[in-house]
Amino acid sequence: MSEFFEKVVWITGASSGIGEALAITLGKANAKLVLSARRVDELERVAVRTGLPASHLLVLPMDMIATDSFSTQVDLVISRFGRIDYVFQNAGLTQRSAVIDTDLSVYKRLMDINFFGTVALTKAVLPTMFSQRSGHFVVTSSVAGKIGTKQRSGYCASKHALHGFFDSLRAETYKEGIRTTIVCPGYIKTPISLHALRADGQLHGQMDTNQEEGMPVDEFARRLLRAVAAKKEEVYIGGKEIFGIYLKRFLPGLLSRILRNREGA
Ligand SMILES: NC(=O)c1ccc[n+]([C@@H]2O[C@H](COP(=O)([O-])OP(=O)(O)OC[C@H]3O[C@@H](n4cnc5c(N)ncnc54)[C@H](OP(=O)(O)O)[C@@H]3O)[C@@H](O)[C@H]2O)c1
Repeated sequence: MSEFFEKVVWITGASSGIGEALAITLGKANAKLVLSARRVDELERVAVRTGLPASHLLVLPMDMIATDSFSTQVDLVISRFGRIDYVFQNAGLTQRSAVIDTDLSVYKRLMDINFFGTVALTKAVLPTMFSQRSGHFVVTSSVAGKIGTKQRSGYCASKHALHGFFDSLRAETYKEGIRTTIVCPGYIKTPISLHALRADGQLHGQMDTNQEEGMPVDEFARRLLRAVAAKKEEVYIGGKEIFGIYLKRFLPGLLSRILRNREGA
């Protein structure tokens, strides 16, 4: 983890789950952390858990929908730490509802937070990385960014969109010294299903078995940070569900049959 020593690392979705685990692991590497999400009390709790001194911490509340505020947020980070080395674009939410039932507003919310918020923050940070001639975006997609599954149509669409955007960005900015890693987690043990949107936009509010039995989040964070340090462009981290990505590539008809016959969410 020496790669991250004294580096300025901005994590969105830092109040919970994967973002929290990344913050704690990076705290051990003595990174300088910018912690962002909406819930300030949870960000403060995570800041304490990192064990870092105040000189290495900036709690920066933000809502991924409030894209007009992002250039001000970038200015705050620069005035505090002088540069931005990594941005972990990790904030996101999922869905549990069939297409036929789902309000259009649910699709708009999923795209606003998972896709447009991420695009807007990238655009706000990019001039800084261009002037530094360095920087690294780490984007949390999903196996659902590679495969469309039942009950996740809007979530899958938003994550698929990230791949198109960041593959283009990677190609455009490589010569400027800017790197992009996109990670597709499988089932990771976090509270993500509690915050999933139902057809009417209400919260699902249940811990799903797949997440409950998923990979421990600290193990996920360690594996992701190793991949980022190695400047991997695309990584898949999880359990046997990861094989779905390879089935899609090599035996798409078989995967399609498996997915359509699969019961439940
Ligand atoms: N866990 C899995 O199995 C899994 C699998 C594949 C991909 N992922 C992806 O991993 C990422 C992190 O999810 P997680 O599993 O760690 O779930 P989580 O514990 O629910 O964390 C989601 C994070 O996103 C933040 N967030 C949600 N809406 C936001 C908004 N409007 N503005 C700013 N921040 C917002 C939340 O903070 P606030 O509520 O405080 O704003 C929270 O910190 C997501 O992009 C998710 O799609 C997770």
